[in-house]
Amino acid sequence: MREYRLGRSKEEVIALFPERAIKQVALGDRKICVARIGERFFAFERLCPHRMASLGEGWITAFDEVVCPLHQYRFELGSGRVSSGDCRDLICFQTVLDDRGLAILF
Ligand code: FES
Repeated sequence: MREYRLGRSKEEVIALFPERAIKQVALGDRKICVARIGERFFAFERLCPHRMASLGEGWITAFDEVVCPLHQYRFELGSGRVSSGDCRDLICFQTVLDDRGLAILF
């Protein structure tokens, strides 16, 4: 498992990610999506497992789900479980926020 770090402090990384926005980030040769709700960070695969639409153009619901922009399938943040739609679950990556910034493990 590899660890990638974003930001140099908790405050810096929180400032980098607007609340409930989805940003695409490149970690090594891989691009993923990262979203923040309060001090909780969620990292997940960039392309929807249904028909590969870009989840970076999706949005976050009040129920902490990411919604795909193409067919509006929904996935629970954190677990990646499909909550609405018919495809496999979303692959999610572990995140750890600490005084040195955000660590993403995969
Ligand atoms: S491509 Fe994402 S729901 Fe169809």
